[in-house]
Amino acid sequence: MAQSLMKRTHTCGDLRSSHIDTTVTLTGWVDVRRDLGGVVFIDLRDRYGKTQVVFAPQHNRQAYDTAQALRSEFVISVTGKVQKRPEGTVNPDLPTGEVDVAGLELAILNKAETPPFPIEDAVDVNEDLRLKYRYLDLRRPAVQKSLLARHQGYQRTRAYFDRNQFVEIETPVLMKSTPEGARDYLVPSRIHPGKFYALPQSPQTYKQILMVAGFDRYFQIVKCFRDEDLRADRQPEFTQIDVEMSFVDEEDVFVMTEGLMKDLFRGLVGLELNIPFPRVTYHEAMERYGTDKPDTRFGLEISDCSAVVAKSKFRVFSETVRDGGVVAGFTVPGLASFTRNQLDGLTDLVKSFGAGGLISIKVQEHKMESSVDKFVSTEEIRAVAKRLKAASGDLCLLISGPWQKTYEILGQLRLEMAARLKLIPENAWHFLWVTDFPLLEFSEEEKRYVAVHHPFTSPQAEDLQFLGSDPKKVRARAYDLVLNGNEIAGGSIRIHDSALQSRMFELLGIGPEEARKKFGFMLDAFKYGAPPHGGIAVGFDRLIMLLTGQESIRDVIAFPKTASAVSLMDEAPSPVDKKQLDELHIKVIH
Ligand code: AMO
Repeated sequence: MAQSLMKRTHTCGDLRSSHIDTTVTLTGWVDVRRDLGGVVFIDLRDRYGKTQVVFAPQHNRQAYDTAQALRSEFVISVTGKVQKRPEGTVNPDLPTGEVDVAGLELAILNKAETPPFPIEDAVDVNEDLRLKYRYLDLRRPAVQKSLLARHQGYQRTRAYFDRNQFVEIETPVLMKSTPEGARDYLVPSRIHPGKFYALPQSPQTYKQILMVAGFDRYFQIVKCFRDEDLRADRQPEFTQIDVEMSFVDEEDVFVMTEGLMKDLFRGLVGLELNIPFPRVTYHEAMERYGTDKPDTRFGLEISDCSAVVAKSKFRVFSETVRDGGVVAGFTVPGLASFTRNQLDGLTDLVKSFGAGGLISIKVQEHKMESSVDKFVSTEEIRAVAKRLKAASGDLCLLISGPWQKTYEILGQLRLEMAARLKLIPENAWHFLWVTDFPLLEFSEEEKRYVAVHHPFTSPQAEDLQFLGSDPKKVRARAYDLVLNGNEIAGGSIRIHDSALQSRMFELLGIGPEEARKKFGFMLDAFKYGAPPHGGIAVGFDRLIMLLTGQESIRDVIAFPKTASAVSLMDEAPSPVDKKQLDELHIKVIH
């Protein structure tokens, strides 16, 4: 039975030598109990820290007797006297480690069953078990630290935008389905049979309409919902710092975002970031790093060797170049010692990425050793090695094929080599803006052009001429912010002209009728004086994950879902009563 509560005077992280001889009351959870025959030691834990409490019969017999019954995770309150720890028993790892509390009164406020895993940072149990008992997992100091960092993130973000005249406005969670590229989560309407709300993939349409409404600067820390395949950096519901500004161009959005990053890094990890962040175009990012989210913490930059091998007798080279493809690669310093077996392993790896094969050149003092020796002249191999700036002792790795695919495979191989060779420095923070994304891409699945970012992104003025003739060539006024190879934000300058917006829909194969049905409200709004505007959304979970050194966004979300979109603790999604389904006019077909 719970006893009366003695209210705490201090937290478990407070006590220092200066408190010696004061009488204090602490509350919290029993972290560990050690019974040393005649004396019971416990570490008492709350979110502020741990304090050692000692129960001995000579301090108080009753408290000592009660302490015998304590087990891990019991909730207690203790009153006692702060004392200096005896010589040799000071714990320098604990901020409270110079003192302990001699227990005089003890109340067990609640008992606890034995937890399925110990509440400690170095816990080695599978994540599913931790997620099922998330309330216990959340007691672990490391997890609490991440969530406290997240809390700091919210507070600083709000203060930053408030200082900069942004208005925080909530937008609906039940909305009309808008396209952001992923599948919508739908909510059936009871009152309107056969009609559905969608949960927002982002507040994109609302924030643009808020610009039409004259709010000028908007932000919101907002939940977004996307029914897409999950990964370590993707959750079905995640949080964005969503931003929109009027009368701006790219530069204004960059400056505002860089200011936010500087503020968050200063506040959360005490680091002064150098701004402005470097920039690369999408095209350059692909050709140098093989990805639109380059990790620039290490080298291994890719170079195009097509011009060097365009006239090669080796048809894999010359025909690829003739057909508009590329031969490209990078140099791995000091890896000429790679064995045949190791190279075969790499070949299998790039094949699993979709490559036809891997071309390697080992550069040695007096000779070149290449996987294509039989087909390619030594001069040509030398020329390729020179183009890749390889020195004696280095290994060159090359792939040939269509532009996009080849660079993407090289990008994956570049990351793999960096990981294997441990080339990625810890505690390095490399931000990078990626700009000039293509406006459209052709979807083989849908047999039509789809927007790379979203349909409201403005094309670049000088590329408008290609909109009809060569849509693939049109660049968007879209940008991403990348941190250490992670896309942490994305945004664009929008179309604010309803005629251009209608033309964009047409290009996307959305006819006037369909456009009216789906976005009539937006097209209408744009007829009543839409200011030029643009914005960005920061993936808040990803940013906090990186800031706290975690590898998965699940570690910075209080109640995350698994990779199969399940919440193991409360077992969502779950079946519902037939009555509920009937009310919603829904029949489930298995
Ligand atoms: P975008 O779709 O690029 O842009 O999303 C912005 C940022 O949100 C993060 N993110 C995710 N994080 C976790 N789980 C997910 N499933 C997930 N999906 C995206 C990424 C990404 O950079 N409305 C536009 C923004 C704009 O144009 O202003 C948008 O949502 O870090």
